[in-house]
Amino acid sequence: MAEVQALSAKNAEEAEALRIKYLSKKGEITALMNDFRSVPAELKKEVGMRINELKAAAQEKINALKEAACVQEAAAPGIDLTRTPYPIPLGTRHPLTIVKNEIVDIFSRLGFTLAEGPEVEDDWHVYSSMNFADDHPARDMQDTFFVETHPDIILRSHTSSVQARVMESTQPPIRVICPGRVYRNEAISARAHCFFHQVEGLYVDRNVSFTDLKQVLLLFAQEMFGPDTKIRLRPSYFPFTEPSAEMDVSCTLCGGKGCSLCKGAGWLEILGCGMVDPAVLEASGIDSTQYTGYAFGMGIERIANLKYQVKDLRMFSENDVRFLDEFVSA
Ligand code: PHE
Repeated sequence: MAEVQALSAKNAEEAEALRIKYLSKKGEITALMNDFRSVPAELKKEVGMRINELKAAAQEKINALKEAACVQEAAAPGIDLTRTPYPIPLGTRHPLTIVKNEIVDIFSRLGFTLAEGPEVEDDWHVYSSMNFADDHPARDMQDTFFVETHPDIILRSHTSSVQARVMESTQPPIRVICPGRVYRNEAISARAHCFFHQVEGLYVDRNVSFTDLKQVLLLFAQEMFGPDTKIRLRPSYFPFTEPSAEMDVSCTLCGGKGCSLCKGAGWLEILGCGMVDPAVLEASGIDSTQYTGYAFGMGIERIANLKYQVKDLRMFSENDVRFLDEFVSA
């Protein structure tokens, strides 16, 4: 015990050497503990207690020596403990992730839950179950990437395939939001890319009406682009919704007066939507005489462009740090 208490070390290395000498696997105190087996039974209690005390004292002493050595080293000339540390550069979230999270957050507050599905899909979930006719042009090789050896396996060209998967495995009420990457066979330019990102929403229940859809989309637009945002719906066509519409929001830059962003129109197109076609509900095993639903889908790049006015779509996938750094505080 006296030996332990008298230990001293000039620096951290010496203290570490002491730890190895006494406390490591082959250390002296460890050896004592290993020999404990051969102590006669009547002495075990007494000896055991003493070894434990010795070990605890050694640990405490050596830790104290290490700490003292640390303080001593830090206080050496040239080291200023009061100086603020170097700022650690933080990474940034990708602008598309920022926008996706914002969209998902808005819809989760409205009761939607997240659903995801595979990017490599089969024809059924992307097209057939979504009511695309066999000769629909979207099935064309111009639009769709196929797996060469398996023409039935494709890269999904929209996230509606996730809707199909949710509907075939769940009965209503269904209220999901499906973000994800989609692929289309487009020549890459400032305005088009062979992959981009979508968020799609689906609500199926009894008595779901077009009014419900309109209200949810208005709430979304005002949360996303500000409380003064107006929306307008124009009739459109999608194979999987009837009736279908395209939604515009009042221009995020000029508020509707007309500027270069909205090309003088005062409106910007942001999403497609409509009432789920009864044939789509039936294809996924949902009784269309009992249930109705609405769906909507939007491009994340498109929304990010409106928020941040990114001129060239390729910026989103080139990972140029100068571009990404602009989103540090976002
Ligand atoms: N899936 C459509 C597209 O990719 C978007 C959409 C979704 C339209 C849901 C209407 C309803 O263009």
